[in-house]
Order: sequence, then structure tokens, then C-alpha cells
Amino acid sequence: MTVRRPLIAANWKMNGDRELVTMMAATLQCIDSSHEILICPPVIFLSDFPKSTQYRLGAQNVSSEKAGAFTGEISADMIRAAGAEYVILGHSERRCLFAETDATVLQKAQQALRVGITPIICFGETLSERQQEKTMWVLAQHLDAVYAAQPDLLAESVIAYEPVWAIGTGLTATPEQAQQVHSFIRQHLARINADAAAKVRILYGGSVNADNWPTLFSQPDIDGALVGGASLKPAEFAAICQMAKE
Ligand code: 13P
Repeated sequence: MTVRRPLIAANWKMNGDRELVTMMAATLQCIDSSHEILICPPVIFLSDFPKSTQYRLGAQNVSSEKAGAFTGEISADMIRAAGAEYVILGHSERRCLFAETDATVLQKAQQALRVGITPIICFGETLSERQQEKTMWVLAQHLDAVYAAQPDLLAESVIAYEPVWAIGTGLTATPEQAQQVHSFIRQHLARINADAAAKVRILYGGSVNADNWPTLFSQPDIDGALVGGASLKPAEFAAICQMAKE
């Protein structure tokens, strides 16, 4: 059986301040967890985190360009220099609010890989797509647009399944719903590269909290979490990081 090291990732979105950086760093410093722990704060705070072996840092976005006249953009080299080892790409908020497409996600992933940053690529269906029973079809389209287009990305990225209807709503997929989709993603990707599909970590995101996480995490294809709101509360995030995979 393939062993995948769980990854618990915090996506602060456009929230937090230096005080939260200090509190989160101090809280994580004291916990005992064998999982990989990742904090993705707004990039301005990356270099405020003390260096630690307890957690890694990531960004929530990166430019699709290497350098140049792109006002307001931040390059992969820059986030790397600020301490990022991961970058979240294709989050539904970026797809819906900033018109990001799978093609943009691919360009950004290439920039990240160029400097040794691991992309965490997000996929998920909307409520109406789920109600129309199109979930698997929608995911297959997006997965193919990224991984069939660039097969070697599979061994070098992390996937996050984030049902759009579960983000920030307090609604979570049931453990069975989430497992069904995670297993579908893995099987679908196995057609591209069976070994890489068995090894790729698939995170679940969407209203994860300390109460609902144990049952989600107990599912065989759920390899970690991408936590939004609950990752702004150091004690709750630390509790999630310390829950063992049953
Ligand atoms: P919430 O945990 O706040 O629902 O956010 C999930 C998310 O979008 C993580 O990327």
C-alpha cells in the first residue's frame, strides 16, 4: 500500500495580521504532529514567520510570468525568496472572482516548478453542478485540462478537492461524498500515470473544523485538509494538525 504523508494546510485568504502570525507560530511550535503542516498567509506576512521545522510556508497565488512590467504581480522567485515552498493555485475564489482558467493555472504551475515550489491545485464543483449530477464530469474536464496537458505535473503537485458549495458556508461534504470524489480523482488520474496517482496527496477543503475533521480524515483517499476559516484560530488549527489518521 502506498503511504502518503498527510498535509494539513492553512489558507488564510485575505485575513490575518502580524499578531496572528506570532500567535500561530508560537502555537505550532509547541505541538506534536507527524503530519506536514503548511501555512499560506497573505504573502506580505511570509517573512514574518520565524523559521521552524514544525511548519512550512506557502503563498495563495503567483504570477504566470517570470518577471517584468506586470504591475501588482508577485513572481515565483519572489515568493520563494520570502520562504514559500508551496503555492495554492486555481482556488475557486480565483477562478470565480479573478477569471482564472485551467490554462492560467498551468502557466502558474510552471512558474512555481521552475523555482522548486510545489503547486497545490484546487478543483471543485458548484452547487448547481452537483444538483445536476455533473460533479465527476466537471472534475474530469478540469483534471484533464491540467494533468493530461502536462502529465509530469502529477508527480510534482498536490491536489485539493474543494466543493464550491462547501467553502465558507458551514456546509461540508459528508465523509462518504468526499471519499467518493477523492477516489474518482485518483482513479481518473491513474489513466495518466498509475504510480503518480497512487502517490499524489489529495486534500479536502470546505468548512473543515476540529469537529468534522476526524470523520473526513478517516476516509482512505483523504490525505489532508485545506482549511480556511478554522485556520485563523491557532488553537483549533493546532487541534486539526494533531488529529491522527485512523
Ligand atoms: P473554509 O474552510 O472557510 O470553508 O475555506 C475553505 C477554503 O477555501 C480553503 O482553501
